[in-house]
Amino acid sequence: MISTNMKILSIETSCDETALALIEANGGLKSPKFKVLKNIVSSQIKIHAPFGGVVPNLAKREHLKNLPLLFKNLKLEIRNSRPPNLLAVTVGPGLEPCLWTGVGFAKEIKKKYFPKAKLIGVNHLEGHLYSFLLTKKTVNSKIFPAVALIVSGGHTILLLMKSLTEWKKLGETRDDAVGEAFDKVARMLELPFPGGPEIEKLAKSGNSNAINFPRPMINSKDYDFSFSGLKTSVLYFLRDSYESTKTYQSTKTTTKNFRNFVKFRTFVSVADIAASFERAAVDTLVAKTMRAAKECKAKSVMLSGGVAANKLLRKELKIQSSLLKANFFAPSMKFNTDNAAMIGVAAYISYLKRGNRAIRAQANLNL
Ligand code: KG4
Ligand code: ZN
Repeated sequence: MISTNMKILSIETSCDETALALIEANGGLKSPKFKVLKNIVSSQIKIHAPFGGVVPNLAKREHLKNLPLLFKNLKLEIRNSRPPNLLAVTVGPGLEPCLWTGVGFAKEIKKKYFPKAKLIGVNHLEGHLYSFLLTKKTVNSKIFPAVALIVSGGHTILLLMKSLTEWKKLGETRDDAVGEAFDKVARMLELPFPGGPEIEKLAKSGNSNAINFPRPMINSKDYDFSFSGLKTSVLYFLRDSYESTKTYQSTKTTTKNFRNFVKFRTFVSVADIAASFERAAVDTLVAKTMRAAKECKAKSVMLSGGVAANKLLRKELKIQSSLLKANFFAPSMKFNTDNAAMIGVAAYISYLKRGNRAIRAQANLNL
């Protein structure tokens, strides 16, 4: 019999956040409960922003620098209590050099400080999937079957969960992930990286009905998504308003100049473009998710991943779920974007399920 009462130290370095967490877990697979003792995230956004995206080797360098600093902080928390009996590290999907940094660090601290602890590899996507458990305090019969939407910078996946440990993939994006589309459109609109929160902010002052951008695959019978066409429509909308590339380049001297130019040429504001794009992306995600929920007779709808921070998406899914008399679960704001607490939660479930994953970077790991 393995104990279900665990203290878990988890490490997340799959992309541009260096994160460590210490959580307590008990209750087993039937009614898992978690207490977050420490959750530290060091974001590298400022370092990557000038490049308009994450630069893998820069990210790796920052992880190498940040991990010992965060660990020093975490050790203070452990000093006067029992040491962790489970160590968890994200092994994929993600940027390979970054994943190796986390894996190497996990092995190092196990050897040096926690030789008795078990070390397990965690799928980052399972981390997002289970992140609702950090906010939802009880797991009961009113949850499953559930339809889960995972939306991040690298993935857009729709799952049918029969239980906490059994799921089936219903669909996923055939091209860009929705977070990637947000980031790319933000770039077109001269907004800083990462673009999701910037589009959301700007969209607040815009009219979401100003431009009728396409909702790709919204009526297709499957549960797949496509966001590259929507992204390209925004590009064409802007491009068609330029006289030439030269005119366009000349507008890019300042943000104000660019925004005035767009307004003058297209008769809509940059905020209108952001709001119309956000609406089109959210409409597509909500339509597919709710159709799946209806067809699968889901008792709940779950949302996770970085894009789950988007308030319009949360609001729409919540309203539509209640119309269907289904519960709606999404993690609280701090657990949407990458963090290590969710890796600890997934580690607990994976460990009890005896999911034996190799402790090596697996950049293309999927669900
Ligand atoms: O899960 P995450 O932190 O990292 C990955 O695993 O990819 O997700 C990051 C993505 C980025 O594309 C970012 O632009 C998007 O989440 N994002 C948002 C919002 N906050 C973050 N997208 C839309 N609205 C937001 N408020
Ligand atoms: Zn993520």
